[in-house]
Amino acid sequence: MALPDIRPLKQGLPFGIRIGGLTLEQANDPAVRQEIASLFDQHGMIVFEGVEPSDEMQLAISTAIGPLKEHPVKSLSRVDQDTMPGVIKIAVTPEYGGIVELNGKQVSHWLPWHFDHCYNNELNRAGVLRAIDIVEDGGITGFADGIALYKAFPKDLLARIEGKEILYSLATQYSQMKFGKPADMKIIRPKPMNEEFNKQAAAMPRAIHPAVWTRDSGEKVLHVSAYMSEGILDAEDEAGNALLEEVAQTINRLADQCSYHHRWKPTEFIIWDNWRMLHTVSGNNPSESRTMHRTTIKGDYGLGRFENDGIGGKILSETMV
Ligand SMILES: [Fe+2]
Repeated sequence: MALPDIRPLKQGLPFGIRIGGLTLEQANDPAVRQEIASLFDQHGMIVFEGVEPSDEMQLAISTAIGPLKEHPVKSLSRVDQDTMPGVIKIAVTPEYGGIVELNGKQVSHWLPWHFDHCYNNELNRAGVLRAIDIVEDGGITGFADGIALYKAFPKDLLARIEGKEILYSLATQYSQMKFGKPADMKIIRPKPMNEEFNKQAAAMPRAIHPAVWTRDSGEKVLHVSAYMSEGILDAEDEAGNALLEEVAQTINRLADQCSYHHRWKPTEFIIWDNWRMLHTVSGNNPSESRTMHRTTIKGDYGLGRFENDGIGGKILSETMV
């Protein structure tokens, strides 16, 4: 059995593919699963189209890449812990969710370019998303390829950031953003946070990840999340902060040349390589509700660590899509 329908994600993009019509039987076939894993590693992200929109399918696609990563935070909403362990429900409603104004328009659940778990020493291999409640206005997920970003980056700026390491903390509030803020961003309503989350976040040591790393293939990946970044290791000063801000704003500018932006349909899944891709969420009209089902795939690229040999290492929360 082999995958019958494989297409480029978009003409001219150097990353990503689409796979059409995958059945649950195919998704559980060992040869097909191996083919999916190989295509994923090669292309960085896959949009599965025209598939059965079930959690069973989500688990089958997810585990083709690797085992699921569980989240120990009790406050996270599970779809069904007994039958669907690891499938997380992420919901934003008119009453619940941070709101910002961008370009003069208010949006709920905006997320700037980032990679997941930057605040942790280990980086999950992949994330998988499915849309349950789809908004009419916004709610678009963008994916930018770190390999394409590396190639597109100004060479003088690359020379200054390559070899540097970036500090991250679990600081998810818009008001905590230090780098890469859009010039016109206004905070309208803070993100909801509970006391348990705040305590855990405050107790975590800072994490450190390289700004650029090299895949086994030899390809270099620019991998900086401005969101939740604290500064450059050993350069938390005016010059270091100016460099990180220049990198962050250059990513914001170049990401649009190196990215794909997805408007969701109910019969789709997207899986992306968290060691390679950055992602963003456009935000949606605050009057609408949006629900996604999310799974996270275990793994580690082995290049992250905690500051000062900090204790910890657990994933404390998964609040980002
Ligand atoms: Fe995310």
